[in-house]
Amino acid sequence: MDYDVKDLKTAKDGALRIEWANQNMPVLNRIRKRFNREKPLQGVRIGACLHVTTETASLMQTLKAGGAKVSLCASNPLSTQDDVASSLVKHDMIPVFAIKGENHKTYYTHINSVLNTKPQFTMDDGADLVSTIHTERSELLPELKGGTEETTTGVIRLRSMAADGILQYPIIAVNDAQTKHYFDNRYGTGQSTIDGIIRATNRLMAGAKFVVSGYGWCGRGVAMRARGMGSNVIVTEVDPLPALEAVMDGFTVMPIRKAAKVGDFFCSLTGDIGVIRKEHFLLMKDGAIVANSGHFNVELDLKGLKSISKSKRVIRPFVEEYLLENGRRINVLGEGRLINLAAAEGHPSSVMDMSFANQALCIEFMVKNKKALSKTVYPVPEEIDKRIAREKLAAMGIIIDKLTAEQKNYLASWKMGT
Ligand code: ADE
Repeated sequence: MDYDVKDLKTAKDGALRIEWANQNMPVLNRIRKRFNREKPLQGVRIGACLHVTTETASLMQTLKAGGAKVSLCASNPLSTQDDVASSLVKHDMIPVFAIKGENHKTYYTHINSVLNTKPQFTMDDGADLVSTIHTERSELLPELKGGTEETTTGVIRLRSMAADGILQYPIIAVNDAQTKHYFDNRYGTGQSTIDGIIRATNRLMAGAKFVVSGYGWCGRGVAMRARGMGSNVIVTEVDPLPALEAVMDGFTVMPIRKAAKVGDFFCSLTGDIGVIRKEHFLLMKDGAIVANSGHFNVELDLKGLKSISKSKRVIRPFVEEYLLENGRRINVLGEGRLINLAAAEGHPSSVMDMSFANQALCIEFMVKNKKALSKTVYPVPEEIDKRIAREKLAAMGIIIDKLTAEQKNYLASWKMGT
């Protein structure tokens, strides 16, 4: 079996951590048991490009239990948990190509290693597999029947491929399931981003000014949790609706140009490029801490920062201190890569349970319905979303009410007014 991981000797540690995550993934575990019995993915080749974490390992084991032939590479050079990658190779016989800290070239070599397995389905987090297939490996297209996409950034890329008429096989936007983004993007990113910033810096958040750029689901989660830690949260936005929502949620809203002068912590979560730029770094206070928790590291203009810096040093793991020509120091966390996975362990398993239940059920859906699907981006079928919510509640021991016959009639009828 072909693979490329850091050190197989760490596989035992990885296995224990995977087991720990699994204990908090009841919905995925139920799917795995059914997959084991029914083998709905028998012989199906799946290429996955995801953050290689304990939760991803549980998903890979689930797909394999369903009979799939899976291979896995990282969806970010800094997000791999090396012991987990080793455990998947050693204990599950799953080909993994991922090493934490891999450079750009190795990152793409690993993507190509997964593509060399000639996948029939892709599972992406950021659309790097799909885009590599369409730009460099188009010989694989005839075999490809479908794919799934985990994150907002990837869905945006794929929708733009579909709009340009370039997308050559159907994709389900897992990110857009309510049981995904309401929980993973908000509570997962909220907690794991704060976790990453604290692990990297060990700085006190209480009383600090914490600037959140972007008030989408991820930004909302981080703003909410930063407030919970006692920070004064400032939100920057470009869209009037979420900006208004941030105001009414009780946050201070201002442009980044103003926020740059007062912030102690900065975190971008917009999915866009050049959110915090050279002109903003120049305004920041000495010692400002700058992180990104959006999918790609383009949100921070690190080239611009370098161009105004005299020197740079790693002052502690995951903290690069830039000494500016104006004498101030700016601390960039995790090379501007998503800080929740670079310096912490990503979202907790309880939310990934729902995200990855969506992944497993959407792949099963695509395998069953491949002939009926066109070359476009599909939403997650509503019955999958509802089923996951129901099963999650059941696993938590929470019972909810049912509509009475009278209520059903009332909702279905227009006749009754005041
Ligand atoms: N994205 C964010 N957190 C994650 C995790 N724990 N596993 C996989 N992908 C993630």
